[in-house]
Amino acid sequence: MPRPKTLSRNARVSTNEIVIAPSLLSCDFARIADEVERVEAAGADWHHVDVMDGHFVPNLTIGPPVVARIHAAARIPLDVHLMITDPDGYAEAFAQAGAHALTFHAEVRRDEASQRATIARFREVGVEVVGIALNPDTPVERVGDVLDEVDMVLVMSVFPGFGGQAFRPEVLPKVEWLRARGYAGRIEMDGGLGIETLPACAAAGADTLVAGSAVFGAPDMAARIVELRRRALAARS
Ligand code: DX5
Ligand code: ZN
Repeated sequence: MPRPKTLSRNARVSTNEIVIAPSLLSCDFARIADEVERVEAAGADWHHVDVMDGHFVPNLTIGPPVVARIHAAARIPLDVHLMITDPDGYAEAFAQAGAHALTFHAEVRRDEASQRATIARFREVGVEVVGIALNPDTPVERVGDVLDEVDMVLVMSVFPGFGGQAFRPEVLPKVEWLRARGYAGRIEMDGGLGIETLPACAAAGADTLVAGSAVFGAPDMAARIVELRRRALAARS
């Protein structure tokens, strides 16, 4: 059921709670249940799960059966990022596998009518948090007509496909544009977020912060998550 996603205009900073969502793409896939447990014990809020089809992006990752096994091991919500060309066709399988948040890309659903259809499909299969994602070179206006329909906008800060890439600060004005327009849903950022780059994301108005290598590559994972959250909160005020 669509919920209103606009507040007063000029509401620049999010009042949503900060969510730190480590990306399992950077975990040890041979020990995935242990990694799920380890990152939860370290303080993760959501698991970010990257699904790639080898077509929308030049990489292949995991499908619904593996997501279902992650869900069985997890105690926190799964944030499933679909980097695939057919989000409608797989919506039900990922919802049944346990996706709490499910995000599709605006590059595969380019116009308002097809975006609305995909959003409706996601709701129909019971997705709680419906998200729409933008590649770094896709203008933010592409999602402008469906802001009242989505719970989350994912502003990619790298080109999707691989973990460990450098953050692209030129995408930050998209986040500011969404907040300046009064968008009050979640704004997620994904790609290259770490100690140095995450504060600018939170300052611009992002509240849902994905970090793969910065979390799984940290010598002390719990300390890293505490520090990322602390910096995000400090950047807001
Ligand atoms: C990129 C994925 C990201 C990636 C982030 O295609 O969507 O979620 O795992 O990894 P880092 O934080 O290492 O850039
Ligand atoms: Zn992702």
